[in-house]
Formats: sequence, C-alpha cells, structure tokens
Amino acid sequence: MTHRFTITDWPEFVDVYSNETILDALLRVGVPISHGCRSGTCGACKARLVSGNVELGSHSIYALTERDHTDGLVLTCRAFPVSGGTITRLGSGEVVGHPLFRLECEVGEITALTDEIHRIRLRVVTGGRFAFSAGQFVSVTFAGQPPRDYSMANRPSDPVLEFHIRRVNGGASSVHATTELSVGDSARVDGPYGACWLRESHTGAIIAVAGGSGLAPMKSIIETALAKGMRQLIKLYVAAPSECDLYMEDHFRELERRFENFTFLPVLQSSDRITKRRVCTVHDVVLADGYDFTEVKVYAAGPPELVDGLTRTLIAHGVRPTDIHTEPFHVAAAEPMLEEGTD
Ligand SMILES: Cc1cc2nc3c(=O)[nH]c(=O)nc-3n(C[C@H](O)[C@H](O)[C@H](O)COP(=O)(O)OP(=O)(O)OC[C@H]3O[C@@H](n4cnc5c(N)ncnc54)[C@H](O)[C@@H]3O)c2cc1C
Ligand code: FES
Repeated sequence: MTHRFTITDWPEFVDVYSNETILDALLRVGVPISHGCRSGTCGACKARLVSGNVELGSHSIYALTERDHTDGLVLTCRAFPVSGGTITRLGSGEVVGHPLFRLECEVGEITALTDEIHRIRLRVVTGGRFAFSAGQFVSVTFAGQPPRDYSMANRPSDPVLEFHIRRVNGGASSVHATTELSVGDSARVDGPYGACWLRESHTGAIIAVAGGSGLAPMKSIIETALAKGMRQLIKLYVAAPSECDLYMEDHFRELERRFENFTFLPVLQSSDRITKRRVCTVHDVVLADGYDFTEVKVYAAGPPELVDGLTRTLIAHGVRPTDIHTEPFHVAAAEPMLEEGTD
C-alpha cells in the first residue's frame, strides 16, 4: 500500500510505501533532501510535516527536540506514512543531490596513522562512476562485518576512496578494519550521504574543526577548497588529547607552505594537573582568533561531545546555525532515544 505526498517545490507527487520511510521514498525517486546518519541520531533529515500523519520510529531527543516536535518537524529517516500529506524540506536550496551509488571495492592500502587510526584506501572494482561532495560519508561493509558510516578523506575527483578509521574497543567494524583487514579484501560502499559538505559559493572565512578521525572529512573539504582556488582564509583546528594522537601533520604543514590562505593549528586539549579540569578547548582557541562571525562558515566532525559543544559555543557567540555544518560521529546506542510513537 502507498500514501501520496506532495513535496513543496517539487513538481511531482511521491508515493511512499507503508513500510518505507519518507526519506527512503524521496531518495528512491530522486528528490534531493539533506540527510546524514539515517538512524534518527543526527537531525540532518528534518522536514516540516505540513499535513498528514506519520509514525515516528525511535530517535535521539537531540536530533528532534520537543520544540521541533511542537513546530511540526519530523525526522524523515524515521517517519513511516500513516496517511498521505504534504512535506516541506528545510533549506532546500542548500541540498546536494548526488545519485546514490553502490560500489564493490577492494582494499588497496592500509597504513597506521596513529596507534588507533588507520588509513584504508579502497579501489573501485565494479559500480562505475560515482560522485559526492567533499565532506560527505558512505556506508562501508567490510566482508563479514556490519555496515558502518565512514567519511571520505579524499577529494571527489580522486579515483580511490580514502578513509581514516579509528579503532573502538569492542567495536565490530573498526576493530576488523584496524587489526584483521588485508590488502585485497573486499568491501561494499553505499552512498553518498551527509549534509556537512563544502559550500563552494561561500567567500567568507572557513573554520574547519576536527577531533580524532573527524579529520577525514575536513581533509576532503580543505583539499577541495584549495584545489578549486577558493581564496578566503581557511583555518584547520585539530583537537587532540596529546601529541601522539595527531596525524598527517607534515601533510598539512606542506599545504600551509603552498597556500598562503591556509593555516593548520593543532590544539592539544590540556588538563590542569591537579583538578584534571580541561583548561584549553578548541572552542576557546577559535573564539580567541577573533573572527567576524557574520561571514564565516564552520565545518566540524568527530566525537559528538566536541562537535555539539563547539556548535553551542559558536551559536552563543553569534554564528548563525545555518553557517555551521557538522558531522558528529554518533553511536546510536550511546544516545538517549525516544521510543516509537505516533505523530
Ligand atoms: C556520519 C558518520 C560518519 C562517520 N565517519 C567516521 C570516520 O570517518 N572514521 C571513523 O573512525 N568513524 C566514523 N564514524 C563512526 C563509525 O561509523 C562507527 O560508529 C565506528 O567505527 C564504530 O563502529 P564499530 O562497528 O567498530 O563499533 P560497534 O560495534 O558499533 O560498537 C561497539 C561498542 O563501542 C561503542 N562505540 C562505538 N563507536 C564508538 C565511538 N566512536 N566512541 C566510543 N564508543 C563507541 C558502542 O556504543 C558499542 O558499545 C562515523 C559515524 C557517523 C554516524
Ligand atoms: S538522517 Fe535522519 S536523523 Fe540523521
């Protein structure tokens, strides 16, 4: 059974099957819509339910707040149709609509970047041409492992996909990728997804903030911006607990030498030896740099606590939420989730 939806600013109706989400239906028929985790944790797929009813699956209370709910917003990745209706996409002028691809790949290179983070390069075997925007991610399935989301570290024009995968103790995919994977092993890649992509028409300063393997999408964004001749100030802040957690410093120092508009700043998250309280955060360092926050774009990726804390701080200091583009590496099980309910 299907339910017919009108999509504001889209010329055709979309028929949504009872057992599919609104997001899946829109993507199936090629309606561009921003999305990220597809599991109710990031909030990137929010849309306004103008009329009709949907049943919302479990989701993070941060991805769809009570306020959002009262304002008539839904998470399209968790919304199953109960009747037909009308949906308005948020900021639909700010959406990239690459066709979804499925690639069969083989592992071409594995390099340890730190004790925990490995660079994995995948060669495409079948699946043909693919396109994505710098900063997006894909779902990667290593043979015998569950699918997991990983962000591309390479530029979209590169023929080989590069990932930076951090080993999470007890984790299925990341432990496999960093301890058992071999060159020549197969991997399936589905995507692209995500709303934290480089806005190429923006001319103001770019603030890129990475924590841990969150450097992967920031590397893609920065290398793409520089290769496309974007001339504004571009500054990369990398937050790390200590020196040995930093990686690819030489690479970014080399970019600094080649491009006068690019700066690289590692921020070691030092703690007070006695109180163990953090005395230096990446938020403090960004604020101290004295940007004109009316003209910046902020890109950030990595641990959700780092990304969410930075977002809150910058909004409190005047950055518009629409100028902050983030990819928190959420773990669904660690998030408070709301159980299913009818909207
Ligand atoms: C949009 C997106 C992009 C991502 N991009 C990257 C990337 O480029 N590089 C990268 O390394 N990771 C990335 N991640 C995280 C990645 O998808 C996996 O969650 C991570 O590799 C752990 O998967 P796993 O199968 O090893 O662990 P699981 O088997 O899923 O988890 C095992 C246990 O570890 C806990 N756990 C899982 N992940 C974490 C974590 N990050 N911190 C603390 N505890 C955790 C779980 O709660 C669980 O108890 C991204 C996540 C998202 C949502
Ligand atoms: S894509 Fe729907 S909440 Fe992340």
